[in-house]
Amino acid sequence: MRSPYSNNPKNLGELGQQVLADKRLILVSNRGPIEYRAGGGDDHESQACYGSGGVAVALSAAARYAPVTWVASAMTDADRQVAQRSEDNIIGGDSEEHPWRVRFVVVPDGVYERYYNLVSNPVLWFLQHSLWKRLERPSLWHDIQEAWEQGYVPVNRRFAEAVLAELQMADTAPCVMFHDYHLYLAPLYVRAQAPEAILTHFIHIPWPPPETWQQLPWDVTEDICRGLLANDVVGFQTADSAHNFLATCERFVAGAEVRFDPDEASIRLSGHLTKVRHHPISVDVAELGRRMASPEVEAYRHKLAPLRGRYTIVRVDRVDPSKNIVAGFKAFDLLLQRHPELIGQVKFLALLVPSRTGIPEYRRYTEEVLTAIRDINSRYQRAGWRPIELLYENSYPQALAAMSLYDVLLVNSLADGMNLVSKEGPIVNERDGVLVLSRAAGSHAELGEHALSVDPTDIEGTAEALASALSMPEAERRARASRLRQTIGRNDLAVWLGNQLEDVRSVALERGVRSTASVAR
Ligand code: F6P
Repeated sequence: MRSPYSNNPKNLGELGQQVLADKRLILVSNRGPIEYRAGGGDDHESQACYGSGGVAVALSAAARYAPVTWVASAMTDADRQVAQRSEDNIIGGDSEEHPWRVRFVVVPDGVYERYYNLVSNPVLWFLQHSLWKRLERPSLWHDIQEAWEQGYVPVNRRFAEAVLAELQMADTAPCVMFHDYHLYLAPLYVRAQAPEAILTHFIHIPWPPPETWQQLPWDVTEDICRGLLANDVVGFQTADSAHNFLATCERFVAGAEVRFDPDEASIRLSGHLTKVRHHPISVDVAELGRRMASPEVEAYRHKLAPLRGRYTIVRVDRVDPSKNIVAGFKAFDLLLQRHPELIGQVKFLALLVPSRTGIPEYRRYTEEVLTAIRDINSRYQRAGWRPIELLYENSYPQALAAMSLYDVLLVNSLADGMNLVSKEGPIVNERDGVLVLSRAAGSHAELGEHALSVDPTDIEGTAEALASALSMPEAERRARASRLRQTIGRNDLAVWLGNQLEDVRSVALERGVRSTASVAR
């Protein structure tokens, strides 16, 4: 069904104004929209850079409809310095370039280390992406207990304090939107002080079934569920994740009344109702069009042109074990073994973004990726032709330029909440390129029928899919590429945002809209 918001910013704008006219939007996520880096100039002024995470990019669009305050971690030393120089750690909100205010949450290094590098990523991210290596960590609880208590819990409290400070300052009824797995506990701390505030939480990564959560200590899973149940709405990318969340709360939270009916899914706990929804996130199609026309992207197109082959395979990923990058190279290796006629003809452009390098699993995985690239390049390299070109840096315009020129885009994640690359690629590609897409990516539910589907652990199957994509008749490529563009265009970011706003409106109506937030002072 076509959504009233797709390709129709007017409808979304009207809804935004109706729902948010009297509200301040408080977005809460670990990574914010802006990040400072130490300045290199004589004045040593810190440089502001736009945040790179998918969540930050997607949410920036919300700032068009309401005044936004973004509560986010100070992640770099420069962030901390800038925050500490400003009143209440608040920056921005004063210019077109910085339309939102950012309230930085500043915590001591050791506390942040425990929260981000010991709990959020190596425990929650891996667990939720089913990458948990149980045999390797038989005494997990002992390993993480201190990090949970001295890291995850206090940072969540600090986030809640920052949100409460915003609620106290608000002269209009605020709506607080939490994002992701770093902040499962914060809503409970906010709710305790602000019983009437509208709180929503969107989880961008998969929510696995209760059996997976069983691997954490029972009371940790219970606390996570109770934290989330302090929200009015909890949203997921897929129906499977929403269902798994309902089942997890039923198993772990005594007294939770769970309603599984997909249209009315909800959980009632101690009189408070939490609606459970699923809204697949997407890309801002119009904004991508503007970006593609920018001189910056054009400059990268020129830079990348000489790296192309007669055929070009592209992948764009953070270096994360869940992205299954090494298996993708193994499939490419098999492709070259089975189709020696492609040697010298096909190039693989790997745009890989350094990620979470403070975590040993990520450092080891980076080494594995680099070894796989070296190995393949040394075995197949010929004069004037190197099979894999690695671009190892964080450059969004360069990634867009690369995606414009692929013949095949490889997305073979082991697990993925959505995977925005698989939605950006078909929109910006100019060669009717084929999408090879993992069945384990959240986007597969929407895009699978127009892509070539692969099971992420099936290297043979992935090699075959790459071969079929490269030899696909032009008419079929064109038809598939066009259907991908239509599907993504029908359900773009405006639809996701519209759905979030509808959720907020329904909570506000049920509660009886109040003009100001009631915060226990
Ligand atoms: O939802 C997953 C997410 O938090 C996204 O914001 C982004 O794609 C990625 O993970 C970034 O992770 P980090 O903030 O740890 O670099």
